[in-house]
Amino acid sequence: MKKTWEGRFKKTLDPDADRFNASISFDKRLFKYDVKAGIAHAKALSKAGIITVKEAKKITAGLKNMLKKESSMDFSPYEDVHSAVETELSKAIGETGKKLHTGRSRNDLVATDTRMYMMDEIKNVMILIKKLMSRVTAVAEKNTDVFMPGYTHMQHAQIISAGQWMMAYCAMLKRDHGLFEFVLKRTDCLTIGSGALAGSNYNIDRELLAKEAGFTSVAENSMDAVSDRDFVLDFLYASSVTAAHLSRLAEEIIIYNSNEFNFLEIDDSFATGSSIMPHKKNPDIAELMRGKTGNFFGGLMAGLTMIKGLPLAYNKDLQEDKVLLFSRLDELKSILIISEKLLDNISFKAQKLETQLEDYFMYAVDIADYLVKKGTAFRDSHKIVGQMVGYSIDNNRPFPKFEEHELKKFSAKFGEDYYSIFDPVKSVNSKLTSGSTSIASVKKQITQAKKFIKE
Ligand code: ARG
Repeated sequence: MKKTWEGRFKKTLDPDADRFNASISFDKRLFKYDVKAGIAHAKALSKAGIITVKEAKKITAGLKNMLKKESSMDFSPYEDVHSAVETELSKAIGETGKKLHTGRSRNDLVATDTRMYMMDEIKNVMILIKKLMSRVTAVAEKNTDVFMPGYTHMQHAQIISAGQWMMAYCAMLKRDHGLFEFVLKRTDCLTIGSGALAGSNYNIDRELLAKEAGFTSVAENSMDAVSDRDFVLDFLYASSVTAAHLSRLAEEIIIYNSNEFNFLEIDDSFATGSSIMPHKKNPDIAELMRGKTGNFFGGLMAGLTMIKGLPLAYNKDLQEDKVLLFSRLDELKSILIISEKLLDNISFKAQKLETQLEDYFMYAVDIADYLVKKGTAFRDSHKIVGQMVGYSIDNNRPFPKFEEHELKKFSAKFGEDYYSIFDPVKSVNSKLTSGSTSIASVKKQITQAKKFIKE
């Protein structure tokens, strides 16, 4: 492979070592950014009087021309994208092209290229998160008056609106969006001007470079700048959290789709069959969403390990950052897109859910609060309802079937109005706090989410 550094060597690099060392197969996706960083650098070099205005124009025109030819470019002869851009530029414009790398190093260049690329991609990820939030909100809106059991410890707990269940994921995604906003801020930092590690011998205007390359901040220390991969770790962490959130959604869709729960149906176009069992309809898409999550955690561990104990400044270990970043970025985008489509392909089974709501123990807290409103202390009403639960189990009689004289044995405060407790709409609407499952609260969450999505 063609090198930019062969001057001091008596032998060419062993072909296996060459292949092992090269990053072109994956860093060629930085091409556009390496070229843009080059255009900014040419401007800064001419401002510093290192190249003439004419030379800068020639370099800029050559680089801009290369941008148009990306799809037909042959990257294979090069070690990395930086050598490819530099060499191809010199081929196209001649000797002047050889001046572009003045005062910079691949060490500060690769960090800048990667940051520029990731800044664009993080913005894309944030758009996808909002798109998914929008789908989640639409499903919530459609199903606000569908009621289902809410769980704690995977046991029936209290009745909730399906809209509330869905909006829980919207809240998670909003936090994910905030995490990526933070990652974007931490990625937004120009590293060029750091040279190989010690800085540059030319007084390059780094503020100008930053502005031209689209950064709002400049790295403070040259040694840190060429070896800092915190922005990579931040991205790997934020992706892991998002993937973990989506794995929870996937898992709930899987179990709610099972025969045992039967809360929802996945459309045939989003389910798969079995090669041996003719009756099977499997939730493979959701299972893969869940299954891929481990790759994100693995990527985060690999990133942290890449940095651990690494001496300053640049070491080739850092080339692996792109392998981690690009693979996680691609998979994150595909999970976000498929989640949106999966949600488009599920429907609640309202009738089946109604039979689930016949577990009247889910009204236990409402009964306890009924007594509280009539003057009983909560700890006492909790005990009374606990005794009623025992009685219900022993006598195989659900709460609404309790006779008034039986009720009186538990508390004299029970009256005729006890029987109106057992209504799912009433139960959810009796929740008064903001963020609760009451229909009004779910609607408010939906309105607020829509506002956030539009911002
Ligand atoms: N391909 C390298 C990377 O991704 C570019 C920097 C190479 N620097 C060096 N000193 N060998 O990290």
